[in-house]
Amino acid sequence: MSEPVLPLPGFRLLPEHLNRTAQAALIETVVAAAKIAPFWRPAMPRSGQPLSVKMTNFGRLGWVTDKEGGYRYEPVHPLTGEPWPPIPPVLLDLWAQLSGYCAPPEACLVNWYGPDSRMGLHVDWDEEAADAAVVSVSLGDKARFRVGGTTRRGKTASMVLSSGDVVVLGGAARRSYHGVDRIYPGTSTLLPDEVFPGGGRINLTMRRVTLPG
Ligand code: SIN
Ligand code: FE2
Repeated sequence: MSEPVLPLPGFRLLPEHLNRTAQAALIETVVAAAKIAPFWRPAMPRSGQPLSVKMTNFGRLGWVTDKEGGYRYEPVHPLTGEPWPPIPPVLLDLWAQLSGYCAPPEACLVNWYGPDSRMGLHVDWDEEAADAAVVSVSLGDKARFRVGGTTRRGKTASMVLSSGDVVVLGGAARRSYHGVDRIYPGTSTLLPDEVFPGGGRINLTMRRVTLPG
């Protein structure tokens, strides 16, 4: 069988969809949210190996992972036991504009990549609403994003994501393997050093988790 053309249909990259003002406002929102729902370092299922990114969430449900419980959505922060802060209205608007979905997102994962963080190739599998696109925003340092087809062994394509870029994984691309090879440290001044020592990259990923209705 011939290799599919990559990225698969339903993948969209919207370069600098958010201008610098909007990016700065979003970072302020993340900083405020992190005071209530602090970034923590999650661990892989079974091995307990720590991820190289730190995480927090916005929304009714937050994506978490730990050694005992594995990948899942939880309504409260694993350390504070408190609900996650709400998804900011500008992100809800972005979802309404780009997802084409009939219901709002329930989760917005906030990943903080330090200079040496990466994310291995994976498929987002933990959502019941598999027909809803994933909408993701890049803020801060540039990153090399990799996207493949629906099998782990297939070919992949890569691209550089910059601050303000928005990626949509919809349609066939919803089940694409994807990951982040590396960050390009020092390529952005967006992240305040007091809150994000060493700078890095913030990625905001919105998802619908449960089937609506
Ligand atoms: C993810 O797949 O969870 C993150 C993708 C990204 O950081 O751009
Ligand atoms: Fe993902």
